[in-house]
Amino acid sequence: MDLAKYKGCLGHLAAKPDNATREDQAGLTDEDRCYMGVLNPYQLDLVKLLGSKALARSEDKTQVFISRENPYTRPRSRHTRDVKQVALAIASVTNLHCDLTMAGALGHDIGHLPFGHHGEIAFTNISGKKICHATVGVIVARRIERRGVGLNLTNDTLQIILNHSLGAGDFVSFDGLPEETAVVMWADKIAYVFGDVNDFARCLTESEPDLVCEICRRANEFGQNQRARVAMCVEALVEESEAKGRISFLQSECARKFDDFRKWLYEEAYFPAQGARSVVIDGLQRGYDLLATCEEFRDCDHLLLLALLTDKEARRLMDWLSIAVGFPSSRSQTSGLSRSIDTSRVSKSISPILGARPIAFADHFRAPLWGALFNFKSRDKI
Ligand SMILES: [Fe+2]
Repeated sequence: MDLAKYKGCLGHLAAKPDNATREDQAGLTDEDRCYMGVLNPYQLDLVKLLGSKALARSEDKTQVFISRENPYTRPRSRHTRDVKQVALAIASVTNLHCDLTMAGALGHDIGHLPFGHHGEIAFTNISGKKICHATVGVIVARRIERRGVGLNLTNDTLQIILNHSLGAGDFVSFDGLPEETAVVMWADKIAYVFGDVNDFARCLTESEPDLVCEICRRANEFGQNQRARVAMCVEALVEESEAKGRISFLQSECARKFDDFRKWLYEEAYFPAQGARSVVIDGLQRGYDLLATCEEFRDCDHLLLLALLTDKEARRLMDWLSIAVGFPSSRSQTSGLSRSIDTSRVSKSISPILGARPIAFADHFRAPLWGALFNFKSRDKI
C-alpha cells in the first residue's frame, strides 16, 4: 500500500498548540518556564516527560512478564517506546500533531503499578475499588513528580494519559478529546499485541510450546515479524481513517482480525500463562499491611505509596516479610509484623523512591491525594 496518498488526510483535526492550556499557565511554579515561548507547548511536554522520574522508573515495571531474564523481554519502558514509534507513524501520515502524539505516548503508562495488571488486581482487592493506571498516571504527572509540584503538562497531554485506555470500540467516547487520543489508544493496542507476541515466544517456548505455537500461527496472519505486522495494521488504520474522516480501526478486514486476535490473547494467553500471578497479588497485599504498620509512614497514604513502587522495590518489601516470618501463607499472618520487623529499616529501604527523604513522606503522600484519585474519572475537567 502507498501510504503517501493518504498524507495529510486528517490535518484539519490536529490539535492547535496556540490553544493549549496548563494548570499553571504563567509557569510561576514551573522549572521549565524558560522554554515557554521557545518550544511549542507539546514539545515542552515532551521535554518534561523525557526528564521525569516516572518514565525512568518504568524501566523496572512489568509489561507482561514479571521475570525478565532475557534482556529483550519488555519492561514497561520499552513498550512505551514501541507505542511512541507506532503513534508517530500514524500522526505523521495523517498530519495530526506529532509533538502532542509523542507526548501522550510517552506519558500514557507513567501510572502503571508494580507488576503491571497483576498489580492492578492486587490494588483493587486491597481498596475494594477499581484502580486504573490511566488515572494514577494523571495523579503522578500533576501531584507526585517534582516532589509534589507536578510537571505542569498541557491539559491535552493529560487528557490523552487519562483516556488512552478507553474501550476500543466506542469512538463516540472520544468526542471532545484531542484526535491524537485515538492515535495513542490504537498505537498502544497495536504495539502491545505484537510486542507481547514476541515476549510470549521468548518466555514460554519451553514451558508452553503449544500455546506459543498457536500465538505465532495467529500472529503470522498479519506478517512474518513484528515490523510487518505493525505496518499492516497501521496501513489499514490510515486507510479506514481517511474514509471515515477521523481515526478509525474497526471495520476493515484487518481491523476485525486484529480485534479477534487481541481478545483471543486475553482469553487464552495473558492471564492463564502467568503462574506467578497469585504469589504477586498476595505479596502486594501483605506488603500493604506491612507499610501500614510502619510508624514512619503513619501519616502517609499507604496505597499510594505502594502504587508508586517499582517491581524491585515491591519485591524488597516482600523480602522483608519472608525474612521476618518466612513468607506468610495467609494475609492474617502478616498482622503483628511490626513486633518482629524493625520498621524503620523497612522505611529506609524504600524511602529513596522519587528522591524523597523519609521526613518528606508525610507531606508527599497524604491521604487526600488517593481520595482525589478515586473521584477522578475519565472526562473530568483536568
Ligand atoms: Fe500501554
